[in-house]
Amino acid sequence: MTSIQPLRFPENFLWGVASAAHQNEGNNRNNDFWQWEQTGHVHDGTTSGLATDWWNAAHRRAESDFARAAELGLNTLRLSLEWSRIEPAENRWDDAAIDRYRQLLGTLRELNITPMVTLHHFTNPLWLAERGGWLAADVVARFERYTAHVVDALGDLVDLWCTINEPMVYAYLSHLVGDWSPGRHNFPQTFKVAATMTLAHRAAEQTIHARQPHARVGLVKNQPIFDPLRDHQPDKMVAGWQETLFNRRIFQAVYEHRLHFPLNFFAKGIAAGQEDFIGINYYGRHTVKFSLRAPFTMFGEPFIPPHAEMWDEPWTDREIYPHGLYRVCMAAAKYKKPIFITENGLADAADARRPRFLLTHLAALHRAIQAGADVRGYYHWTFVDNYEWVEGWSTRFGLIALNPETQARTPRRSAEMFGAIARANAITPEIVAEFAPDAMDAVFSQK
Ligand code: BGC
Repeated sequence: MTSIQPLRFPENFLWGVASAAHQNEGNNRNNDFWQWEQTGHVHDGTTSGLATDWWNAAHRRAESDFARAAELGLNTLRLSLEWSRIEPAENRWDDAAIDRYRQLLGTLRELNITPMVTLHHFTNPLWLAERGGWLAADVVARFERYTAHVVDALGDLVDLWCTINEPMVYAYLSHLVGDWSPGRHNFPQTFKVAATMTLAHRAAEQTIHARQPHARVGLVKNQPIFDPLRDHQPDKMVAGWQETLFNRRIFQAVYEHRLHFPLNFFAKGIAAGQEDFIGINYYGRHTVKFSLRAPFTMFGEPFIPPHAEMWDEPWTDREIYPHGLYRVCMAAAKYKKPIFITENGLADAADARRPRFLLTHLAALHRAIQAGADVRGYYHWTFVDNYEWVEGWSTRFGLIALNPETQARTPRRSAEMFGAIARANAITPEIVAEFAPDAMDAVFSQK
């Protein structure tokens, strides 16, 4: 075994975990997702409630979770700010909310954990939702004003900013599939929302850089792999449409300054800007076949290959596919920018697959780095089980298990393993032998 060389990551690599305000803070009553939960749209009927209780300063749960992250050896943590707390009514700003964020960010910095902060992670203030959300005529200007407020208030504590989390996922689930508020099924609106979010990203990026020239700013994009089931034209065509519409259009807009969404006649173009990094969330592969029954997915019906490794139920549309992380990094590498894996993880309450999942995905990331992708950090989704949108509490992504009733935390073995990797800045054969010996070949074979 001693002949196996560890997979070492670059010096100063960031090892961390990712989270989002609504999924972690608790009692986020003033946004559209809270309202959506209260009106029966969550599949298991649960509501976010206290979530992981990160907001309540007296309970110090965020503080103790952050301390545990530091003990494990993590050196970064991604969280998001809740717009509806900071601006509870239009143009009314809540100083107490800013103070709480200052506490949280200050705690991270004292622990030598670099905060990565997202401005928008799916939720909208109710006042914005009421005037049309991401279809409101002035939403970009409103987002820009919020960004300016936040950067002025928190910029001394943060220099790593994500503007918007997963614009395509948001547009798709809220305006096409209708699973999220406002529950629409409307193609033109879907592309309009995606284009508007891209323009809002540009406005926020320029606002941040104008106020904080040294800040590093990026957009976070969910980049699934779309592969055709069969080597024949209809399947290849629909996989290609999905790739183009879901993945490529946003990259073209942001990194090539070509705003070209279908059915979108309003937006004339997008200015060039300065992205300091590419944020990628990677969750797996969709293998698709042509089917007239699947209009919302561009006629690509998900097909799960017979021996595919899967997440827990109810996630039946994607396959665990570590090599996809290599593929998405290499595709992004053509823009010659630093890359952060801003999310990667799986639903696995028993922690039966997570150790192997982590090891094989990190090995794929290592291969991408060896092949020239400038990857600077990896954020696992997520640290403590959090509230999973319309799947509610019935699905668990955490390195640490949570009982939402009691708020008791129980680390899964994956937490220990991820910490060991972070501290070593490497995957060593000893770590694999201890946590997932059956992954030894997959990790070290470099295929
Ligand atoms: C989102 C997270 C979500 C995760 C798991 C990502 O698309 O950014 O908020 O919890 O996927 O589904």
